[in-house]
Amino acid sequence: MANALAPAFTSTELPPVLPARTQVLIVGAGPAGLLLGQLLASSGVEAVIVEQRSAAHVLSRIRAGVLEPGTVGLLEQAGVGERLHREGLLHAGFEFCADGELHRIDLQALTGRQVTVYGQTELTRDLMQAREQQGLPTVYEAESVQLLDPDSERPGLRFTHQGRVHELRGDFIAGCDGFHGVCRASIAPERLRCHEKVYPFGWLGLLADVPPVAPELIYVRHERGFALCSQRSPTRSRYYLQVPAGEPLEHWSDEAFWAELARRLPAEVAARLHTGPALEKSIAPLRSFVAEPMRHGRLFLAGDAAHIVPPTGAKGLNLAASDVAYLWQGFSEFYSQGSSLGLDHYSERCLRRIWKAERFSWWMTSLLHRFPQHSSFDQQLQRAELAYLLESEHGRAMLAENYVGLPL
Ligand code: APR
Ligand code: PHB
Repeated sequence: MANALAPAFTSTELPPVLPARTQVLIVGAGPAGLLLGQLLASSGVEAVIVEQRSAAHVLSRIRAGVLEPGTVGLLEQAGVGERLHREGLLHAGFEFCADGELHRIDLQALTGRQVTVYGQTELTRDLMQAREQQGLPTVYEAESVQLLDPDSERPGLRFTHQGRVHELRGDFIAGCDGFHGVCRASIAPERLRCHEKVYPFGWLGLLADVPPVAPELIYVRHERGFALCSQRSPTRSRYYLQVPAGEPLEHWSDEAFWAELARRLPAEVAARLHTGPALEKSIAPLRSFVAEPMRHGRLFLAGDAAHIVPPTGAKGLNLAASDVAYLWQGFSEFYSQGSSLGLDHYSERCLRRIWKAERFSWWMTSLLHRFPQHSSFDQQLQRAELAYLLESEHGRAMLAENYVGLPL
């Protein structure tokens, strides 16, 4: 379905002259690449971003919207905290709905911290505009991007832009090109250990200009399947429904979506539901994935290029941000102190945090979704785990501290 959101941001034309050589070559202008570019610029490290799609296409992607306080801090350091603080929604808690009953998880009381609800599209727009205002080199619509000599001390990128072949050299390559990117694919398979779990369901997401059904997010465990009530602003809502893996989007009219969502919500919540036409509607498959290690010579993988989480725990964007924080620190130390310590420990530092977030995301997904192959025993276990969690102060505290984000 075409995305009815027409991003105001237009593609950035290639700057008149690209530096033939720079310090860090960043592949991908998603959240990871753009955030890294801004943080490096704040430390005086030069970088060029090479992106295969147009800026408008990057902005047309609708993704998650919950930022951990650590991610908010990084965005402030990148110089894009102003609109985030003005328009972002501070949330001190969220609701779990089990057997039709609501249970609030009080993040503020349990952790002393809150999360910020702010769409990834908006965060990406802020980073793009900051980069353009600073005149930092970004190539959109780069075709046939290839990595050159990633193990050498002069790695490079070759790509075609507007019919011309370009070759850029740098000291390092940051692979921020997502799960389907070229960077991880360029690594010899025998040098990578990949771990993957594919779930038997996906998330059907719908974005609409209707007021949210509740002031905070509601995660719903229901016999018919998981549902999530989220939001983007006081007038714009984001909803998700668990659907079978491989479900065609055509099976879901707007009306069918709203009717199924209402079935999975408690009656008193469904009665408050505002419905309206979908601005965007799509189905995302759910998987857990980690590629180890994240460093290969002068190539460093960050964000979705290295790992994927099911969106249940809202960790995807926040993990990309923490990878970027470690990589920024490593590059900054290399250029300012001549130390490679941060870069040498980059992969192990990231993976320690990544696996804890993978565990939390898998656990929250396992707790709240309906698994077609589950026996009645499995289903009762799931209900008992959720009941224990909601009745235990320690269980709630574990949930809350993972949700707001473990320390960097
Ligand atoms: N050459 C250049 N750019 C590429 C290539 C390539 N060969 N392949 C992919 N890209 C670009 C994509 O077009 C995209 O803009 O890399 C970018 C990767 O961005 P993301 O996939 O958003 O990944 P990341 O920046 O790590 O952000 C992770 O985004 O998808 C969500 O759930 C995910 O919230 C998480 C966040
Ligand atoms: C979203 O608003 O898109 C969102 C919020 C919380 C999640 C996943 C997605 O866990």
